[in-house]
Amino acid sequence: MKENNQTAPVLIDGKTVSEQIKKEIAAEVAAITADGGKQPHLAAILVGHDGGSETYVAAKVKACDACGFKSSLIRYENDVTEEELLDKVRELNANADIDGFIVQLPLPRHISEQKIIETIDHRKDVDGFHPINAGRMAIGLPCYISATPAGIAELLKRYNIETAGKKCVVLGRSNIVGKPMAMLMMQKTYPGDATVTVCHSRSKDLEKECREADIIIAALGQPNFLKGDMVKKGATVIDVGTTRLPSDKTKSGFKLTGDVLFEEVAPKCSFITPVPGGVGPMTIVSLMKNTLLAAKKTIYK
Ligand code: GUN
Repeated sequence: MKENNQTAPVLIDGKTVSEQIKKEIAAEVAAITADGGKQPHLAAILVGHDGGSETYVAAKVKACDACGFKSSLIRYENDVTEEELLDKVRELNANADIDGFIVQLPLPRHISEQKIIETIDHRKDVDGFHPINAGRMAIGLPCYISATPAGIAELLKRYNIETAGKKCVVLGRSNIVGKPMAMLMMQKTYPGDATVTVCHSRSKDLEKECREADIIIAALGQPNFLKGDMVKKGATVIDVGTTRLPSDKTKSGFKLTGDVLFEEVAPKCSFITPVPGGVGPMTIVSLMKNTLLAAKKTIYK
């Protein structure tokens, strides 16, 4: 296992790792199609025009191109009814050409996200949000692992960061990041075997928990939450935050801001992910990996 004894932290370069993985996937797809196999096909449903969701879905479609996948983007306005959306989900479940699909979250308030997720055929649930996939993951069975935790696990692996016996604090308890991340870090494989603490808005002494952690995974969605004095020297810090803060310094008019106050925290770390260019690109590439698994029927027949 790598130890970083230098004073400068190692920047975990999710952008470069994700480019490498996309090339690996594209090579596999080329081999499949050269052999007469079907091109993997991912569909995405996008409701409304939320800036963040538009950006993520566009990035997913672009990643499909880079991997040699077919992609379909299905758009609805915010006034789509729950029943219309459920009908589309049922249609995609039945469409044999589509290997996997996602419904970009969040959805408008009049639509039950849970109902939509539970209607997706778990064999096509490449987001890993369906209770069957979430449950199988919790007990260590083959399944689609949700993209952000899977991307973080891949980064820990590719940088040989030791996790066995380490104290890992997960900040945040969302169903799509915090909970599955905690599950992964405690499973009996690498990366895993960690002693995991999940902290959230009701935690009593979150700062003390963080100061004792070897690995901190910050997924609260609160920009610059983790400060330098909350991190012990030599820790590994993974920043999942992607809040779009208004900025007059960028062309887009916003600046993607993580949950970690990078300039204070980085000097204390062994390893740290930047925002952008850390976890974000890995999340998208994990979705591509799940789509390839779906096309190959590796997990479910
Ligand atoms: N919204 C934020 N992250 C995600 C994700 O990974 N998948 C979907 N479907 N929606 C999201």
